[in-house]
Amino acid sequence: MNSYSNPRLLVTGATGFLGSSLLPIALENYEVHYIVHENLSPFSNAYPHQVSLNDFSTLARVIRQIKPSIILHLAAVTDANFCEVFPWSAWKINVETTKHLALIAAQENIKLCFASTDMVFDGEKGNYTETDVATPISKYGIQKVEAEKIVLNASSQNAIFRLPLMFGSLAKKNYFAHVITALKEQKPIKLFTDEYRTICGVESVATGIITLLEKANGIFHLGGPQRISRYEFGLLAAKIFKLDSHLIMPCLQSEIKTTAPRPKDVSLNSTKAIYLGFRPKGLEEELRIIAHEATLS
Ligand SMILES: NC(=O)c1ccc[n+]([C@@H]2O[C@H](COP(=O)([O-])OP(=O)(O)OC[C@H]3O[C@@H](n4cnc5c(N)ncnc54)[C@H](OP(=O)(O)O)[C@@H]3O)[C@@H](O)[C@H]2O)c1
Repeated sequence: MNSYSNPRLLVTGATGFLGSSLLPIALENYEVHYIVHENLSPFSNAYPHQVSLNDFSTLARVIRQIKPSIILHLAAVTDANFCEVFPWSAWKINVETTKHLALIAAQENIKLCFASTDMVFDGEKGNYTETDVATPISKYGIQKVEAEKIVLNASSQNAIFRLPLMFGSLAKKNYFAHVITALKEQKPIKLFTDEYRTICGVESVATGIITLLEKANGIFHLGGPQRISRYEFGLLAAKIFKLDSHLIMPCLQSEIKTTAPRPKDVSLNSTKAIYLGFRPKGLEEELRIIAHEATLS
């Protein structure tokens, strides 16, 4: 266990795709506590607290017992299509829980850092900076903007990290694992040529968040090193993983009907975060690391 002189960090959503990459990095500098909900997978050297994020009175009691100096709120309903169909169910965790965490954090003088998304933008412009107005087109994006406002209004020490589409561990359910699995199984897959993101490796984003955790107040974009379409990224991943890129078929957003509306270009300008020490790895470099780890596992 870390020395008790380390600052105390409480993480929600630790069992998710980002959280499970972030916790080991956080443990280097923090005494880490995390809220567990249904998924009980343990992290060695971190302290679990089993409480529902919808049980606000128990949550407040647990936070007052832990006395963290920072709460990093990653937990969310992240499936944009689910949010579109069941907005009130998603609203509970995406907005209501965030509101209660912001209230408790302000009362106890705890800094609250909140994970938001590039989907707060409508995708008509691209290369978005923190001063661009958020105009979401999906329910997921609307809920994240609502939560951002609550977090920012609760305390000037709070921070918002707007995150890009991430890739990383093949063990967790995510878009990238889906692409690699399809290619490994020799299944053709369609990827958009007209949807642009600043895709980033989850390890780079996790390291960036930990680097900025104490320094950042207000909004920060943590996008990847380049603007790239899903199609171009698929081709790059196929090359690095030595898989058959001919299985990747180019297609337009308009050819596939999705439940949640999809913005065209939500690439993020991350100059502000880079100034504070965010150092996203190049896409090829990060893909090579993941491909190497996959051969070892
Ligand atoms: N992944 C991306 O590409 C991406 C892009 C932009 C922004 N983000 C943001 O980054 C954050 C982390 O994303 P992620 O990809 O790691 O998400 P994820 O893999 O879907 O994990 C979500 C986490 O939230 C927890 N959670 C969900 N509903 C809960 C509830 N009612 N009570 C308690 N815990 C609950 C889950 O716990 P259980 O496992 O126990 O259900 C899980 O730990 C989210 O805020 C997301 O909006 C992600």
